[in-house]
Amino acid sequence: MRFGIFGLVIAILGLSACSGGAPDGAGASEGKVLVVFSSRHYDSDYALYDAFEEATGVDVRTIEADGDLLVERLKADGKRSPADVIVTVDAGRLWRAEQEGLFAPLDSAKLNEAVPAGMRHPDGLWFGLAKRARVLVYAPDRVDEAKLTGYESLADPAFKGKVCARSSGNIYNISLLAALIDRWGTEKAQEWATNVAGNFARDPLGGDTDQIKAVAAGECDIALVNHYYFARLMNDEKDKGLVENLAVYWPNADAGVHVNLSGAGVAKNAPNPELARQFIEFAMTEQPQRFFAELTNEYPVVPTIKYENAALEKLGEFKEDPIALSKLGENQAEAQRLFDRAGWP
Ligand SMILES: [Fe+2]
Repeated sequence: MRFGIFGLVIAILGLSACSGGAPDGAGASEGKVLVVFSSRHYDSDYALYDAFEEATGVDVRTIEADGDLLVERLKADGKRSPADVIVTVDAGRLWRAEQEGLFAPLDSAKLNEAVPAGMRHPDGLWFGLAKRARVLVYAPDRVDEAKLTGYESLADPAFKGKVCARSSGNIYNISLLAALIDRWGTEKAQEWATNVAGNFARDPLGGDTDQIKAVAAGECDIALVNHYYFARLMNDEKDKGLVENLAVYWPNADAGVHVNLSGAGVAKNAPNPELARQFIEFAMTEQPQRFFAELTNEYPVVPTIKYENAALEKLGEFKEDPIALSKLGENQAEAQRLFDRAGWP
């Protein structure tokens, strides 16, 4: 059952009203209620909730809102918060929630084994659920792939007036620059941001899909986007024509492709921390991990999971930046400063 953030009170008042339909053998969890606060609105997540309900007999209630609004709500509710699990996207947002003290540490041998160390908080405050890569999309009729050299290409004077990217206030760009600061140091990262902003075909406008559409329309030749926006278009019968003349370039150079994640943690004041643990552990099992790849075009965070997704298969392999994502938050303020100085709106 899903609620917008303002449906919260009604949702909580109604908690006892609906607990039927639990399968046989669901054990001690049957009839209990788990409240998930999530900034994601994807089919993969609804499939995950349904599968968890079916496996355990637990009734999953979700409160959905934009990531920063979700944090505000959790802060405002404090000890009265009904949230058991917090789900959001981008290590930068997980860090913001962490800074507000919204997570309770979780020590789970299952999770520590399933999730690679760089994809979870060192103290178990959050765990990656699925991965996304920040890639370059280009028009092969206008850009020679052999001349691309990683993220640095966006700063190449050859692309003057030809680059599209969304605004610098967006967490995906902030986290990318935070990773580049770690990789290159502040001075080179600043130079990069300044030169990329100097190459813009237009002021940042819209989300990642809009940047892809702008390349398709010839407004720019190359754009910076998350891979799943491109994969979604590739897999969509109605939209695939948009991307058939475009290509993805993996910025594998030096440390590799910036990978980020969607993640989950146990809420600090979780009424049901044990159910929250069960839920997060369940999310790392095969079926939910496949949901992320097959329904949302993300990559499973558990490296052994096999999945079927024609677009992801076509996009192929890439080299992943091994930086521990829990480190990105430390550079967040610095990244925003560099963007401001760069004149990247
Ligand atoms: Fe996104």
